[in-house]
Amino acid sequence: DQTLKKAADTFFVGVAVQSGKLNGQYDETYRKEFSSITAEWEMKMNVMHPSVDTYDFGPADAIVNYGQTNGINVHGHSLIWHNSTPDWVKNFAGTDQEFEDMIEEYITTVVTRYKGKVTSWDVVNEAVEDGSGNLRNSIYRQKMGDDYIAKCYQFVRAADPDVLIFYNDYSMIIDQTKQDAVFAMVDDFIARNIPIDGVGFQMHISHDYPAKADIQKATDRIVERNLKVHFSELDVRANPNKDITSLTAERSLSQKAKVKEVVQVYNSIPNDNKYALTVWGLKDSETWLTDFYGYVDWPLLFDGNYNKKDAYYGFLEGLQ
Ligand code: G3I
Repeated sequence: DQTLKKAADTFFVGVAVQSGKLNGQYDETYRKEFSSITAEWEMKMNVMHPSVDTYDFGPADAIVNYGQTNGINVHGHSLIWHNSTPDWVKNFAGTDQEFEDMIEEYITTVVTRYKGKVTSWDVVNEAVEDGSGNLRNSIYRQKMGDDYIAKCYQFVRAADPDVLIFYNDYSMIIDQTKQDAVFAMVDDFIARNIPIDGVGFQMHISHDYPAKADIQKATDRIVERNLKVHFSELDVRANPNKDITSLTAERSLSQKAKVKEVVQVYNSIPNDNKYALTVWGLKDSETWLTDFYGYVDWPLLFDGNYNKKDAYYGFLEGLQ
């Protein structure tokens, strides 16, 4: 019978996974429905490089090996992110050049390790501030200068000539200033021959926004630049206003309609610009949103018992 990955025959259908949940019904569902996986936390610097002279690739290797064993694509997320910066990096005592050399060594070590196994990397995640469109004043920017993103992209390319380099961020559809700033940065990279292959819209959205037309308009800007599009962290809040305590039929159908719109937009882009549409988790009961917003929500395609929801069928309908 029909599955997500069988229906989406021109792009990867991805899911965020955790290294301790690759067995049982997780394993069965991943192998049946998905063609790409992203580590929810295991491939971030605070996990892989916990101190200046130690690497811990155990959790990341578990996910990459699972992808290799099962013929599932692995998207790397994410080398540099202000929210997963280890304390030792924040407190780095060396010179700016020594900091840059340390970042180059980290990126080179990781990208080399997973060369030929990880297809793509969110090299720098969420570098642009909400609202202002300015670069966040992260430790990387402070130590390596405004051009730190381009430098990291070049470190990745030097380590692996084939890996896809993505810029990944959130709220790019509803925050026009941020969206414009990202595309100005992308255009600057293109003009300077800084390697970049794609843009990731995280797509942490709600059942009732953003409008399909706005998703389409923003997506067109990636396609216009002939870059690959990754909808990289899709979840669709059914309870953004915290007004329900269980998923009502009405709200579930609204969520289904929004998932269908997102999939329609993604499926309609040229095949050359497709990469993956990734959902940020398998089961509603394990969504990051519950901790983040401190309220119950049901944002994914499967419920807490691995049952397909209306949203799952909305995904399939979006491909018809
Ligand atoms: O670190 C422990 C680990 O030692 C333990 O074995 C494991 C077992 O459960 O849990 C780990 O704990 C937490 C992990 O989530 C699993 O729940 C980490 O402390 C915690 O930091 C981690 O949070 C993740 C967060 O990124 C930070 O990495 C969330 O799961 C994940 O959903 C969230 O995802 C981010 C994207 O990377 C970027 N876009 C926004 C998105 C939501 O914040």
